[in-house]
Order: sequence, then C-alpha cells, then structure tokens
Amino acid sequence: MSDQQQLPDVPTEAWAGVHRGPLRVGEWVRLTDQKGRRHNFELTPGKRFFSNRGHIEHDELIGREEGFTVVSSAGGEYLVFRPLLSEFVVSMPRGAAVVYPKDAAQIVAMGDIFPGARVVEAGVGSGALTCSLLRAVGPFGKVISWERREEFADVARRNVNQFFHAPEGETHPAWDLRLGDLQEALPASGERVDRIILDMLAPWECIDAVADALVPGGIVVAYVATTTQLSRYVETLRVHGGFTEPQPWESLVRDWHVEGLAVRPGHKMIGHTAFLVTARRMAPGETAPRKKRRPAPGAYGPDYLGPRPDGVYVEPVED
Ligand SMILES: C[S@@+](CC[C@H](N)C(=O)[O-])C[C@H]1O[C@@H](n2cnc3c(N)ncnc32)[C@H](O)[C@@H]1O
Repeated sequence: MSDQQQLPDVPTEAWAGVHRGPLRVGEWVRLTDQKGRRHNFELTPGKRFFSNRGHIEHDELIGREEGFTVVSSAGGEYLVFRPLLSEFVVSMPRGAAVVYPKDAAQIVAMGDIFPGARVVEAGVGSGALTCSLLRAVGPFGKVISWERREEFADVARRNVNQFFHAPEGETHPAWDLRLGDLQEALPASGERVDRIILDMLAPWECIDAVADALVPGGIVVAYVATTTQLSRYVETLRVHGGFTEPQPWESLVRDWHVEGLAVRPGHKMIGHTAFLVTARRMAPGETAPRKKRRPAPGAYGPDYLGPRPDGVYVEPVED
C-alpha cells in the first residue's frame, strides 16, 4: 500500500449510493472477465462465486480496495469494482423497461433537475430513472414517483433501496413512492412541483394534470418510444396552449474502437431507445408566441388525424 492519504467514506447523510474504502460485507461488486462479461453479486462471508472458470471466495474480496484483479480457481482473471449507477440500472432486476443511462443523463441535464428540486415522475417502472433523479435532487429535494402497478412499484422499491444502501425499513429521504394513475392522482394531491418526467405509454393523457401541477417556468420532460406517440404527445401539448413550443430530440451514442492505426467507429450501437421532449410551463393565462413558420406541406393535410393546433390551415383534398 502506498502512503497516499485515505479519503473517509462518503457521508451517509449524502445518500449518494456510493462507498469509498475497503469492500464490505453486504455490498454489491461487479466482476468483469477477460471477454467483458459482467457478473454482479452481494458480498457474503463464506460464499463462493462460480463461473465457467471455477470459483472465487467472497472472503478473498471482502476488505480489499476496489480496482483489482482476482484469479479464479481455474485461472480466469476478473476485474473487481463496485458497480456505478449507470452499471447498476442495466443489470438490476426489471419489472418494466428501464430508461437507459444515456437518456437519464439527458433528462437530468435538459430537464434541469437541481439539488432541492421538487420532481414528479410517472411511472416508476423498475426505478432506474428514479435513482438518477434522487441523485440530482439530493436529500433536500423531493421525488414523487407515481406508479399504477403495484408489482412494478415493489420492484422499484427494492432496486432504489439497494442502490442507495437504505437500512432495513428506510428509504432515501427525498423519495415518495405512490400507487396511482398520474392523471387522476396528481390533481387530487393538489401538489405544485418544479419538474415532471413522463415515461409511460400515453403521456398525452396527463397534460392537463401536468399543467395544473407545474409551477410557471417548470419543465415537463416526456420519454416516448415510437414516432406515433411522439406526434400525438407534441400536438396535444401545442393544442393545450399553456406550454412553450415542445422540443423533441433523441440521442445516439456510438463507441469507438481505438487501437494503433485502427481508429474507427464501433460496429455495434444501441440504435434506438426513445425520443425525449421538453416544454416549459407558461404563467397562468399566458400563451407563448406562435411560430411564424407555415407548417410543412401536407403536415396537417387530410391524412392527418391527430390533435390540430388552433388556426392551422387545412389543405383541401386533392383529386
Ligand atoms: C417504461 S416503464 C417506466 C420505467 C422507469 N422510468 C425506469 O426507468 O425504470 C412505464 C411505467 O409507467 C407505468 N404507467 C403507465 N401509465 C401510468 C400512469 N398514467 N400513471 C402511473 N403510472 C403509469 C406503467 O405501469 C409502467 O410501470
């Protein structure tokens, strides 16, 4: 061991979901083999981790500083680290599909989630996005997570509590997990919030509830998987009139292969996860200036059957 100064553990009151220092009993570790395959497990004294290259005693890992290589009984080499948030959410048990880390990062940045913010999200699904939101608002903020399916809420509760190392019977102090349908439950709660994140099949059904709950200047972020959902959601927001022009986008992340003279994009990437849309709540009674541009030809022609913003010119049916 070098004579480097040791940092104390991250304060428990920070609810960071991160430990420093030696690996301890009950913590999760992530082992990566020479082919890049990953294995996560909870450190338990006396237990063994088995792989196709023999086994490793948990006791060999407990008490060591993460960031080392361990050799299994059959000679396999494994890299040992604590899982990061971005690694935890893609390997944790799932009820519903999760928001991937690339999109969670966009939601936190473009949704401007800040320490102390009051945030509503629906649905909670498996709790992946919840972990990023709780990290961003910190222990003095509030994340109210609505979920209409109890079995998904249970999965999310387990995942979030595991990530934040919540002691038995406790949870992150900023988290309020509730059962219910957002479009009815949010108006009934009478709560006002800074940010609302919608990850569900039909976010357009929630726009009135969102408008009532968001403070002026507040941001609504929607995460939708298909172009038909994207269209319906954006047009319904426009028709509502109490929001700024919706901003839709998607993010594509591509790994690169960098080896000597072979420097090129990776062959594989996640082609599509979902589209994101942000819009800001106007003050009561205020409307945003209309876009000056005419809609693209055919945009709202006779084949268009969705919500139609006021004053949009309806093109005549051609013979
Ligand atoms: C794709 S999952 C959410 C995944 C979650 N964001 C994550 O990162 O793990 C969608 C969830 O929304 C829930 N849901 C759909 N409509 C809802 C509504 N109106 N109110 C509350 N929950 C809803 C579904 O039951 C489902 O669990």
